[in-house]
Amino acid sequence: MLTDTRLASDELQRIANELRDNWHTGRQVDFEEAIAFHESLPRSKEFATVLESADAPLLQPRAGVPCLEEQIELLRYLQDEGGADLLPTTIDSYTRDNEYEKAEEGLAASRNSPDNELNGFPAVNHGVEDCRRLVRALDAPIEVRHGTPDARLLAMVTLAGGFQSFEGGPISYNIPYTKEHSLAETIEHWQFVDRLCGAYTERGVTINREPFGPLTGTLVPPSIAITVMLIEGLLAATQGVRSLTLGYGQVGNLVQDVAALRALRSLGEEYLPEEVTVTTVFHEWMGGFPPDEARASGVIGLGGATAAVAKPDKVITKSPQEFQGVPTKEANASGLRTTRQLIDMLIEQDIDLGGIDDEQALIERTTRALMDAVFEAGDGDVVQGVINAFDSGALDVPFAPSDAAKGAVLPARDDDGRVRIFEFGDLAIPDEIKQIHASRLGERARTEGREESFRMVADDVDAISDGKLIGRPTGDSDLAGGASDAD
Ligand code: 5AD
Repeated sequence: MLTDTRLASDELQRIANELRDNWHTGRQVDFEEAIAFHESLPRSKEFATVLESADAPLLQPRAGVPCLEEQIELLRYLQDEGGADLLPTTIDSYTRDNEYEKAEEGLAASRNSPDNELNGFPAVNHGVEDCRRLVRALDAPIEVRHGTPDARLLAMVTLAGGFQSFEGGPISYNIPYTKEHSLAETIEHWQFVDRLCGAYTERGVTINREPFGPLTGTLVPPSIAITVMLIEGLLAATQGVRSLTLGYGQVGNLVQDVAALRALRSLGEEYLPEEVTVTTVFHEWMGGFPPDEARASGVIGLGGATAAVAKPDKVITKSPQEFQGVPTKEANASGLRTTRQLIDMLIEQDIDLGGIDDEQALIERTTRALMDAVFEAGDGDVVQGVINAFDSGALDVPFAPSDAAKGAVLPARDDDGRVRIFEFGDLAIPDEIKQIHASRLGERARTEGREESFRMVADDVDAISDGKLIGRPTGDSDLAGGASDAD
């Protein structure tokens, strides 16, 4: 039975040896030699050092193209013209699915054509030396950003290649990303990834780990997201990870976002062991974006403003071309600069918003209830607890494509635009908290003169891309409870 215990060194070795044969670049990985490469890097490229010593939120975009020279050029542009403090390398979808043959074909096709035939950088196919060329060519630290349920070989190659930060986790890269993988399987795979990060860390090369906070990116109640962050943090800490960046995705209500980021930091420090350094990352809006770039910049600006008030350690920026998918480098840099402008103008203002403390207290109480349920479901073991809690629906994520989550929880915004829970399923939260949600949603229903229904949920999912925060009914028929034209 899989439990929350540290993977033994001989197991780490055995699995690493097996993985080496999955793709030929796996054989390039030599741990001792990799340590020496990391030790040769200046402190300005040490991810954890730079992040943990920052005195204002650091900005980081997403970016990945197939070929090495273009990836270097793209990251240089984002560093020099966008002012990125931390750099990414976004991995392509074939690699995320462990389809290295297909990634190889896409890479070859991209080399022979002006177009990119992959939606990211296939780091496993590039291998250790090309990753090092990338790391050497840039001034800022670089993180591997992906979405890979089984990221073991990706971690082996990229960490040997000089990357010092690795995104993802067994729940956050399962529930929103895949249908087939069981939680037990992804937890086992990520125990290897985290143990590998722990092994580097013990040799003095701190590898930063960043669980993916936004989950499905769609109206995720903060308490659910924070619970998943704490669990992934605990699992990583068991394997020896000592630098953890817990994430949270903007919901768009300023008070709730600031409260959630404060709760994330405070609960992170409380629940994770002393020896772990906890930082936080705020993701600009991960839901649907307005199709026009001017409005999209408004969404990004609100993200920057929120970050200026909440002061997370890092912000993952969006581009005004979010609607159309992978942005041009100019659009990507523009999202960085819009965010920078808002943060720089606001960060020194002493802004006092009403209601943050109460909202934070509500998020913390709810998160504690969910954490208690997980510990209980596993008789104190977090691995068994989280598997059982997702199985029973005591822990759940809205709109999850994965069979591992019930997906019974439905969120909706209240009259103030805060994300509340409309349908609880079997979520393990106490009745008095459920009543708070019900009463806030009741207020909104009265304002709108309609019943709370799935229609409200659907209207909220589309609201920001339609130019609003709350999916209010817009026509007379809506006020009578009919179909909305908000979408
Ligand atoms: N370059 C830049 N952004 C990317 N995203 C995905 N792949 C890339 C890439 N190669 C972004 C999407 C979305 C987020 C989940 O990741 O645009 O914002």
